[in-house]
Amino acid sequence: MATDAGVPPSPLPRFPDGFLWGVSTSAHQIEGAADEREPSVWDAFAAGPGRIRDGSTAAVACDHVHRHREDVALLAGLGVDAYRFSVSWPRVLAPGGLDFYDRLVDDLCAAGVRPVPTLFHWDLPARLDWRERDTAARFAAYVTTVAERLGDRVHKWITLNEPAEHTLLGHALGVHAPGERLLFDALPVAHHQLLAHGLAVRALRAAGARDIGIANSHGPTWAASRAETDMAAADSYDILLNRLFADPLLLRRYPSGLGELMPGDVAADLEIIAEPLDWYGINYYAPARVGAPQDAETEIGGVRVPAGLPFTLREIEGYPVTDFGWPVVPEGLTELLTGFRDRYGDRLPPVVVTENGCAYEGLDDQDRIAYLDGHLRALHRALTAGVDVRGYFVWSLLDNWEWAEGYTRRFGLVHVDYATQRRTPKASYEWFKEALRAQR
Ligand code: BGC
Repeated sequence: MATDAGVPPSPLPRFPDGFLWGVSTSAHQIEGAADEREPSVWDAFAAGPGRIRDGSTAAVACDHVHRHREDVALLAGLGVDAYRFSVSWPRVLAPGGLDFYDRLVDDLCAAGVRPVPTLFHWDLPARLDWRERDTAARFAAYVTTVAERLGDRVHKWITLNEPAEHTLLGHALGVHAPGERLLFDALPVAHHQLLAHGLAVRALRAAGARDIGIANSHGPTWAASRAETDMAAADSYDILLNRLFADPLLLRRYPSGLGELMPGDVAADLEIIAEPLDWYGINYYAPARVGAPQDAETEIGGVRVPAGLPFTLREIEGYPVTDFGWPVVPEGLTELLTGFRDRYGDRLPPVVVTENGCAYEGLDDQDRIAYLDGHLRALHRALTAGVDVRGYFVWSLLDNWEWAEGYTRRFGLVHVDYATQRRTPKASYEWFKEALRAQR
């Protein structure tokens, strides 16, 4: 926690030598230059009425495609070891699209920052659909193209970002692109993304890549009470948000009979999905508090959850909240990491925290400093408890287009004035820079 002056009370504990420090972004949220790529499902979704809080699109965003040199300089100034960005599949499909990533990777290497690309961060080409099994094979072909071009300089590869959110928010609830409201009929979307992941791991290895992982979102699930109905609801939520995307990868099986609801030859697909990983990426923001289902629609964190699901999400009280309304619960990260180690044991490869961060306004963002300080201490407690964590990436380098929230949520260490594209490092940028320097 920050003191009155906003300065954390003591230096962070020492992290192991070789611990990888980085920051994250994603293509659709920062790149802009929409007319230099194919359309993605997010372009079509954002064009619909009432879908994005401020009515905006990501057509320009941070104009990163045209300003990436300035952004690489910000990374170098921060002193991070690595930069997690995503490659836009729609841009790679456009003539010359890969040239941009080639330049970016060269510039990162020249600045001493290791490139960590994510191959899919929700911006599916608009002509494709995850309900189709063939999308997984197409993804693997695209991955081969990228790996052949960038593989000589990439440090770590990430196949997918948060297939859980993409399935739930995009295909089950319809609040993200492509805006489908399929509820449980969205399960094939989960399976096809997992299959795409496994095929991508094989494609990467065939192209000579090493150090491959995934970035899955996870959080502790807290039952709203000890009542049996709340406990059962929390269990259902935990299965859908945590285990559905981890068990197939780490245990080669779906949890709780969900495999029977999946399309295709599931046993054969699981052999592909469970290709061994070099590390496992976890994005952590907050725990979820879950109670028994209710008859009416509920709303939490800006997401409208229809009746008919086996759970409802409840507010978590007693913690500070970010501008997004998300509770700040650093100890949730310790609980999550130790819980994961206990659940998966030696099936869990080394872990990297691939996203962690918060939405706050302002350049003197002491709240963000307190958030990051608290979460890094919580992460260190997990290390002390014996969890093999190898790296930590802040979400995000820049303020950016926060999906259905448009430009209304600022997650960056660097402020972006969208009218002028001027970048201004916030207090948290200076704090993180000093924290990194102290670890060297
Ligand atoms: C996503 C990011 C997003 C962040 C904050 C994660 O779920 O991977 O794209 O901006 O959370 O909402």
